[in-house]
Amino acid sequence: MLLTQDAPTATRPADPAFLRDIVQGLSAARKATPPIWFYDRRGSELFEDITNLPEYYPTRTETALLQRHGADFARAIGRGRAVVEFGAGSARKTPHLLRAIDPAAYVPIDISGDFLRASSSVLARSFPALPVLPLVGDFNGPLTLPAQVDGLPRLGFFPGSTIGNMEPSAAVDLLRAMRDLLGDDAMLLIGMDRIKDRDRLIAAYDDAQGVTAAFNLNLAKRINRELEGDLPVDGLAHRAIWNDDKARVEMHLEAIRPLHFHVAGHCFTMAAGETIHTESSHKYGPRDARLLLRAGGWNPVEEWTDAEGLFSLMLARAS
Ligand code: AVJ
Repeated sequence: MLLTQDAPTATRPADPAFLRDIVQGLSAARKATPPIWFYDRRGSELFEDITNLPEYYPTRTETALLQRHGADFARAIGRGRAVVEFGAGSARKTPHLLRAIDPAAYVPIDISGDFLRASSSVLARSFPALPVLPLVGDFNGPLTLPAQVDGLPRLGFFPGSTIGNMEPSAAVDLLRAMRDLLGDDAMLLIGMDRIKDRDRLIAAYDDAQGVTAAFNLNLAKRINRELEGDLPVDGLAHRAIWNDDKARVEMHLEAIRPLHFHVAGHCFTMAAGETIHTESSHKYGPRDARLLLRAGGWNPVEEWTDAEGLFSLMLARAS
């Protein structure tokens, strides 16, 4: 049989977790879907494009902080730790950190095995003396570190303000799980996006070129492709709003007319103006950031931010 790209539903079974999350999310009174499902191959490419947009300041600001503060990291973190990176992805920011602190091992954790192995081998070539020990897994679930890092003090590295995708209660749970995984003498270096001017925030999630819109709408296309869906993509519009009460940017897919569609045999309707809430990106003032860390079992030690105060890198010690 010829396996064509046009008929993936006939050849590839749907991911049961994806199916469950989407059907549950679309069945709720307020439709909402977890942001992890943005990142199929196309979604990952679109996110990569987002990080290069003029409006999307977080990636370049954080990378500049990592580049600029190497001497500070060497002083405050020291050498010889095992660096454990959560959600390593392409790990493009990591070399700056590794060069600064000369770690004893590097454990990148990512849910995508292919991606992880590719980026790990690139990194291992630039750091030939460093043991690189990739770990395929979901950092929202239980993890076991490789035996090679037993006895080494650890530094957790969680860049990108990925923590911002989580509701505060889930963020605290994750920070506590990291603290338990990394041990009593662990440190944590975490990127957190700051609260700032509303227009600046909205622009970062609703760019002029429409890349973020394509990223958001790609979820609908992925549902159609992988879950036998018939969402009318032309009936959905990308929306980015600032929720000041919850200090977060929300992305939604808004029905621009009444919609009726199916996913894996289930029927759904949307009234005109109704939305699917597809992502929240929480932002933190300096005190919010420190409070969140303390609630998660980490004592803030030092923080670095750019001149405009757009983004912060926080260093904390296990409490
Ligand atoms: C990868 C979760 C940090 O919230 O800024 C970018 C994802 N969504 N544009 C973010 C995202 C839309 C990003 N994080």
